[in-house]
Amino acid sequence: MPGVDGTALLAAAGLKKRFGALVVLDGVNFSVRADEAVGIVGPNGAGKTTLLSLFAGSQRPDGGRVLFRGADVTSSGAAARCRLGIARAHQVPKPFGGMTVFENVLVGASTGGGHRRRDAYRRVTEVLDLCGLTPLANRSAESLGLLHRKRLEVARALATGPQVLLLDEIGAGLTDEEAVQLVETIRELRRQGVAIVWIEHIVHVLVQVVERLVAMDSGRIIAEGDPESVMKDAAVIDAYLGTAAV
Ligand SMILES: Nc1ncnc2c1ncn2[C@@H]1O[C@H](COP(=O)(O)OP(=O)(O)OP(=O)(O)O)[C@@H](O)[C@H]1O
Ligand SMILES: [Mg+2]
Repeated sequence: MPGVDGTALLAAAGLKKRFGALVVLDGVNFSVRADEAVGIVGPNGAGKTTLLSLFAGSQRPDGGRVLFRGADVTSSGAAARCRLGIARAHQVPKPFGGMTVFENVLVGASTGGGHRRRDAYRRVTEVLDLCGLTPLANRSAESLGLLHRKRLEVARALATGPQVLLLDEIGAGLTDEEAVQLVETIRELRRQGVAIVWIEHIVHVLVQVVERLVAMDSGRIIAEGDPESVMKDAAVIDAYLGTAAV
């Protein structure tokens, strides 16, 4: 397909999405390689979360294609994409109600990841440990505060055994110390070979993990490349003008 990186793990080719008259994605080309971590920045309403929804299969594009390992997955649903190895942590955490933290992650490992009983339990234990949730394993998910809900969101996605993890503002509201822990967790995932696409407004946290940054505004990619040059780009500064992110 023209304009698509053939070596990409996950790619968007000319993705378009509108809600009524509002054009939210206006021909987005984006790709992440298997060994890569890419950050996405951009002002509120730029279309960042919508792009992740199209990658995860929870929404369908009005034009363009989503490719995973070169195969067209545009018409596959979210469950099928999860089984392929695409997992997502939502911007607004959505724990399963009436379940403990352990059970929430177990659903990820068994339903999403296809792990059988003993494997699933082992996977849950590993993931809870990695995400610092072991002491809360038996707590009801609904009783968690925002920080731990976000960790649970990451843990549940991770339990599915993804090849690419899509993270949506999991760092918002963290203290400096918590942000350091988060960076360590994501670095460990990279060491394990998981590709990362991470939307985050807190750029100084993001750049500790990603080697490439993509800036979006009004449904388009306005700059991409090494993080330092992207954050100095005139169009990016202009898009953020009046906000606290730069
Ligand atoms: N389901 C929907 N129906 C109608 N409009 C929507 C829907 N989802 C998103 N939008 C609109 O699309 C635009 C892009 O939204 P999106 O959530 O992708 O932005 P974002 O870059 O993630 O912003 P933020 O930084 O605030 O999370 C916004 O104007 C939003 O109001
Ligand atoms: Mg968003």
